[in-house]
Amino acid sequence: MTEVLTHDLLIVGGGAAGLRAAIAAVEVDGSLDIAIVSKVFPMRSHTVSAEGGAAAVLREDDNLDLHCFDTVRGSDFLADQDVVEIFVKNAPEEIIQLEHWGCPWSRDSNGKISARAFGGMSVKRTLYASDKTGFHMLHALFQTSLKHASIQRYDEWFVTSLLVEEGRCVGVTALNLTTGELYPIVARAVLLCTGGGGQIFPFTTNASIKTSDGMALAYRAGAALKDMEFVQYHPTGLPGTGILITEASRGEGGHLVNKEGERFLERYIPGKMELGPRDILSRSIMTEMEEGRAFEGLYGQYVHLDLSHLGEKLIDEKLPFVRELVVKFVGIDPVHVPIPVRPVVHYMMGGVSTDINGKTSLSGLLAAGEVACVTLNGANRLGSNSLTECLVFGALSGKAAAHDVLERKPVPQNPIQQLAEEERKRISKKFLEKEGGKERVSSLREEMHLTMEKNCGVFRTGQGLQEACTTLRELRERFDDVVIEDRGRVFNTDLTAALELDFMLDAAECITHSALAREESRGAHSRLDFPQRSDEKFLHHLLSYATPQGPRLEQQAVTITRWPPQERKY
Ligand code: FUM
Repeated sequence: MTEVLTHDLLIVGGGAAGLRAAIAAVEVDGSLDIAIVSKVFPMRSHTVSAEGGAAAVLREDDNLDLHCFDTVRGSDFLADQDVVEIFVKNAPEEIIQLEHWGCPWSRDSNGKISARAFGGMSVKRTLYASDKTGFHMLHALFQTSLKHASIQRYDEWFVTSLLVEEGRCVGVTALNLTTGELYPIVARAVLLCTGGGGQIFPFTTNASIKTSDGMALAYRAGAALKDMEFVQYHPTGLPGTGILITEASRGEGGHLVNKEGERFLERYIPGKMELGPRDILSRSIMTEMEEGRAFEGLYGQYVHLDLSHLGEKLIDEKLPFVRELVVKFVGIDPVHVPIPVRPVVHYMMGGVSTDINGKTSLSGLLAAGEVACVTLNGANRLGSNSLTECLVFGALSGKAAAHDVLERKPVPQNPIQQLAEEERKRISKKFLEKEGGKERVSSLREEMHLTMEKNCGVFRTGQGLQEACTTLRELRERFDDVVIEDRGRVFNTDLTAALELDFMLDAAECITHSALAREESRGAHSRLDFPQRSDEKFLHHLLSYATPQGPRLEQQAVTITRWPPQERKY
């Protein structure tokens, strides 16, 4: 019989939200036994690649109400406003806390933390550490977590399922990728901090590890996913690789230019230009492409992001990573030559539906960070709110999880052995010991990518979304016939790719079904057949619940506190 590993609190994911949550939990009660299980070493979590900065009100020309209003307006009035208010209120102390833990924020000459302009924000509010903010924040969090001996880690362990016993989440099954052994890990509470699922799309800024694992795990276990139709395209990724060229480039004064040499945003958002929100900028670039005013290159159409007027000194001081990336991956120097860019999938506003403390509809299960939908971001997130979101809601959910643990009795282990045994058999039968099977993971993934890009991108139609729903259902059925080549146990990436695709197919169905049902245009969800926002019919969230036939949708009211919906103007 396999050993059952036991902890008080189990956190899945070792990025900013997971590490912040672990530290918050240990601060509630230092005697709690906390574990972090992650499919990569924590410093390889996707947080490390965040560049531009983290938003919080720390300066005299700013105030909490303004940050709230910017976030609500950016969300196209779909954010829950009680959540926005808590977020904005807690953000400054989280940034200062990180400073005390060693995050090397960039400084003005008067010693204050530097702030830069970001899209959709009314003032300079994005605090940064050069253009490697995620790297520095993650480092500060990781080194702080190392001070606490009661935080243990399972690095390079892959969670395959949640263990649910009598309606309560009591742990996970996880593959030790080094040995291929599957273990039950039981805990009195499980907190998902696994990030989003940009890899559902072919062209993304997201690391290859971002495969919607946490969303699918929760969905399969009966928890609701929320607002899944809202997928954010970042306006400026490198064609070909999808590598992010940070919004900080525009915050520092970079210009977007089409092949006619025009700063074309004058046509779409003259009041904000390059500092408009991401949904509007991405649509503007796509329109330039469709109307023949974009450049044509090896990797399709693109526009220019011109930094050359900023000068080498400023670029090296404020945007050194942008320069390094462009030199290495495009072979040009942005000090002298404009950067080719195009919109690229960057972030999922939707995720596991939670309350302000990260609690989901499944007892014992919490979620925080991009995997969660606490409903801060509504239909469109503002750039730089998400690193702060990981801190604020990582901390709140870590605390809530710790209190939850203290109130619960230890989990009885007998039924766990049986649940784990069933999961072991499922993985063996479906993948490792399967005879026959003619479908390949890579082909199914490619077909998923094609339908998502074609039918569920920046612009959508009912017909295209219906086609995507049908294709995804067929892919789900064909997945039953999937075969993997590698039957070994040690770092079987063939197996993990199959498990990840299985997760992505679930999340992709939630995205397309919700997008089909939302017959309006709001934030990042732009329906050519329903171009207006309709508060009358659609001022609500959509929840997705798993059924054997695909997602079942339910509506949930939006919480409005102080900012009644109005026309979204910039
Ligand atoms: O452009 C960026 O640096 C991205 C920031 C964000 O998504 O918050």
